[in-house]
Amino acid sequence: MYTEVRHPLVQHKLSLVRDKETGSKLFRELIGEISKFLAYEALREIPTEPVAVETPLEVAQCHRVTSEIVLVPILRAGIGMLDALTDLVPNARIGFLGMYRDPETSAPIEYYAKLPEAKPDSTAIVIDPMLATGGSSAAAVSLIKEKGFRKIIFICIVSCPEGLATFSKEHPDVPIYTACVDRQLNSHNYILPGLGDAGDRLFGTK
Ligand code: PRP
Ligand code: URA
Repeated sequence: MYTEVRHPLVQHKLSLVRDKETGSKLFRELIGEISKFLAYEALREIPTEPVAVETPLEVAQCHRVTSEIVLVPILRAGIGMLDALTDLVPNARIGFLGMYRDPETSAPIEYYAKLPEAKPDSTAIVIDPMLATGGSSAAAVSLIKEKGFRKIIFICIVSCPEGLATFSKEHPDVPIYTACVDRQLNSHNYILPGLGDAGDRLFGTK
């Protein structure tokens, strides 16, 4: 199950992020801004509990989030979304999963994993700008499930039909929030039209 967030501001920022003339500084800022919009949608249903708060004038019946949020960026490019999400959820705990795609096969190779302990009410938010073949994100979610997390949400900036199908087949219980479902993968498993290599553009490595 996926949700494409078609808000005009998201689509405007996405047009800038796709532009090959956009340099790393602006690219990083835009990825952060889009991530906040996506997280705003993704967290719409998180549980809250009623709480009475004394304002300077009287008691207001309010709601506070009860679910413990665990953010899990997939290294490297997921790091580009992390600051934006910790701005929104400052008390979140953070886990890290290192994955890269084998240059020949595009299969995900795990090289680092450090996740906090799952609590009964934890919600894990997995973040990675790109859902291409779906291999990296599906493997990441499998690892997170093995750690005991039951409620998981995946947020990516750009996705494509192939990746959505693979991911959803493996993890039908994990909702996906994306700014755009692009047309297709190319022969090197890059998304078309896409935005290029997210990690390289974030960190200026090419
Ligand atoms: C990119 C991206 C995803 C993955 C998506 O990472 O950030 O993790 O590719 O592709 P997939 O859906 O086909 O698995 P990459 O392997 O380029 O590593 P990097 O973040 O270290 O650059
Ligand atoms: N990883 C990226 O960074 N971009 C793509 O288009 C596919 C995988």
